[in-house]
Amino acid sequence: MSTYTEDNRKVTTRRLIEMKQRGEKISMLTAYDYSMASILDQAGLDVILVGDSASNVMVGNITTLPMTIDQMIYHGRSVMNGAKRALVIVDMPFGTVSGNPLKSLEYAIRMMKETGADALKIEGGEEVIPDIKKIIDAGIPVMGHLGLMPQSINKYGTYNVRAKDNAEADKLIKDALLLQEVGCFGMVLEKIPAELTKTVSSQLTIPTIGIGAGPYADGQVLVVHDMLGINKNFSPKFLRRYADLHTVMTEAVQGYIKDVKSTDFPNDNESY
Ligand code: KIV
Repeated sequence: MSTYTEDNRKVTTRRLIEMKQRGEKISMLTAYDYSMASILDQAGLDVILVGDSASNVMVGNITTLPMTIDQMIYHGRSVMNGAKRALVIVDMPFGTVSGNPLKSLEYAIRMMKETGADALKIEGGEEVIPDIKKIIDAGIPVMGHLGLMPQSINKYGTYNVRAKDNAEADKLIKDALLLQEVGCFGMVLEKIPAELTKTVSSQLTIPTIGIGAGPYADGQVLVVHDMLGINKNFSPKFLRRYADLHTVMTEAVQGYIKDVKSTDFPNDNESY
């Protein structure tokens, strides 16, 4: 099988920082199960994110808020069984990091122990810095997440582009610097203007990973169901579809139904 990279060494948080230093872009996608993680890993992807977008694409919820720590652990463990080379990051779900650093650390340790993941991702800036510090001080690598933060959707009331005005853009830059200072190894920037991504990325020594944040981030992430076209009902401007698996899968299932109904399947060669 051919992969984009010949480098089979395990991807580490340190190597992501080195990639930024030499200007090599970082590839990241979400996965939630063993089979998908195996495919992404063997294709040569750098980072797999076990996102709480599992709530949307695996469970069918409208928001990411209902996701529980047990559900994230289940998905994280499944992905770890399939990922050998890629760095695996698991999202801390809504409500597990909310201004009580000791409690956040307890959840973070449980996530690391029970998933075997390499790192955690946490949404938020200044408000969650004490929690993030506590977790990093305990030896757990943390990726930040700024811009559109889906766990705060009820506060925003919209999934529109964030930080278009100066006040919000200034706060985002300040938060990004705080996340770097506290020891995060990188951060996701979601749905912000491309020029703001450029400013933030040039001010940081740690990598930024964009989603709907333009070309200047140090890497890119997409939800795998969206980029493979499994999801038909989600078409934001930033999404590029690399396949139409919805059609491929529908036609395959229709073919199977037809063959079963017509008694074409199974034939003699498919029977014992
Ligand atoms: O949960 C998720 O999939 C994410 C990505 C969209 C960055 O946080």
